[in-house]
Amino acid sequence: MTDEIAIKSPISWLDGIDIRTGRIVQENHPQRGQSIAGKIVRIRGSTGSTVGAYVFFALKRNNAAPAKIILEEPDSVTISAELAGIPVEIRGVSEVKLGDEELKEELRRYLEREASITGAHGFSKVKSVHISGVSYATIGDSGREWLSEVSREIKFKVAATTNPAGMDLVDWKMMGIPEDFARKQMEIVDSLVKMGALPTFTCIPYLTGNLPTYGEVVCWGESSAVAFVNSVLGAKSNREGATKTVVAAASGYTPIYGKHLDENRLPSIKVDTDPPENTLQYYLLAYYTGLHYPDSVPLYVGLKSASLPELKAISAAGAASGSIELFHIPGVTPNRISDVSRSLRVTKSDLVRLREEMSSFEGGSDLVVLGCPHLSLQELEEMRELLMGRRSLIRFWIFTARSFMPLIERSGLREIFERFGADVWYDTCMVVSPLEELGIRRVTTNSTKAAKYLKSLRRLEVELLDIREIVERYSVPS
Ligand code: F3S
Repeated sequence: MTDEIAIKSPISWLDGIDIRTGRIVQENHPQRGQSIAGKIVRIRGSTGSTVGAYVFFALKRNNAAPAKIILEEPDSVTISAELAGIPVEIRGVSEVKLGDEELKEELRRYLEREASITGAHGFSKVKSVHISGVSYATIGDSGREWLSEVSREIKFKVAATTNPAGMDLVDWKMMGIPEDFARKQMEIVDSLVKMGALPTFTCIPYLTGNLPTYGEVVCWGESSAVAFVNSVLGAKSNREGATKTVVAAASGYTPIYGKHLDENRLPSIKVDTDPPENTLQYYLLAYYTGLHYPDSVPLYVGLKSASLPELKAISAAGAASGSIELFHIPGVTPNRISDVSRSLRVTKSDLVRLREEMSSFEGGSDLVVLGCPHLSLQELEEMRELLMGRRSLIRFWIFTARSFMPLIERSGLREIFERFGADVWYDTCMVVSPLEELGIRRVTTNSTKAAKYLKSLRRLEVELLDIREIVERYSVPS
């Protein structure tokens, strides 16, 4: 008889499981050290990155995969295990048929299986797709091979933008990326482009041309972008598994469940807080909420306003510590809200404590990394004022979308960054590039999402500070 394991607390598949052994390695997880290899795994759902969907290929390849997964709640990232040949079940649901006979058999079968597992209300055509899992550093050889294989057979039918790759695709040598990594990364890029993906390589596609409108059904990977389009734009996406986004781009369909349904979009918890004083506090607030209520729909009361950078911060942080796909801020976000009885009070000292817990050193960093999510044009402009007339004391890296490059060049920002001593990298980010292989050990950032993954995936020491504190600590007047 096959052994069973009931996972008591949500797992982040990307960084919570050792792909070589199938052991749980997630920090502070109550079952850390136990193995899921060869077992029937009962789990409520997953948290964190949508790229976790690729982990199932790696577990399979290493003979460390579960025999079966039994889910309690629909979760696209976990259901993607089916694409790696790991059966997924939710008890008590019936078969749902897509009925598009022209669709490639394997795609139709996967979508029907996902619909059955989730108890979907039929299917919807999707207006756009955003593909996550583009970096060789996160999807590895099993992911690279899967993409190469499917790229021989399928073409995308829907506009599909792409998440950051593992390196600046032009200046990767200047970044210090090893040749072998670069070659494998380019294979992944080639497979995606061959299928018809748009080479955007950014996690803020909503600011670079892929802008869903209110009520539109889309299929997006990249958990921060999912939370942003649901909450800020009012479009409808689940937190889709990275491999599922490929299936959706090729088929043009997604099953209707989860955050596609209005009843699942209402607030489930009121989060009461004093107005944050800087962007780091928005990151911390949402991260704290995700830690305590991972799959909730928070209603943030007490926030008088939220700028674009702050909305990006909330979107990224709640989806990194939890699996928050949607939040509301009265007077700021467009979705319908209702009153809710459950509440969470978050004080300034809760946020101070969380920052301290997430920081493993104070001062003496090797590298500053900003741009998780990628910096918007507004944030880049704010950097102008902050960095002008100063000189960095350590390496200082800024990550943004390549489509902003012409504006950075023409607006004089490039000179400001150069004089300060900051490098701007495109197509990639601090988490999905192999920083640990570049001789870096101690990193400073302003993003709780980056802090989490730099620790767990890249095994680096992290210092978490607001952007103004970073500039003060690591630069001097020039
Ligand atoms: Fe984007 Fe990389 Fe952060 S993909 S959200 S900058 S981890």
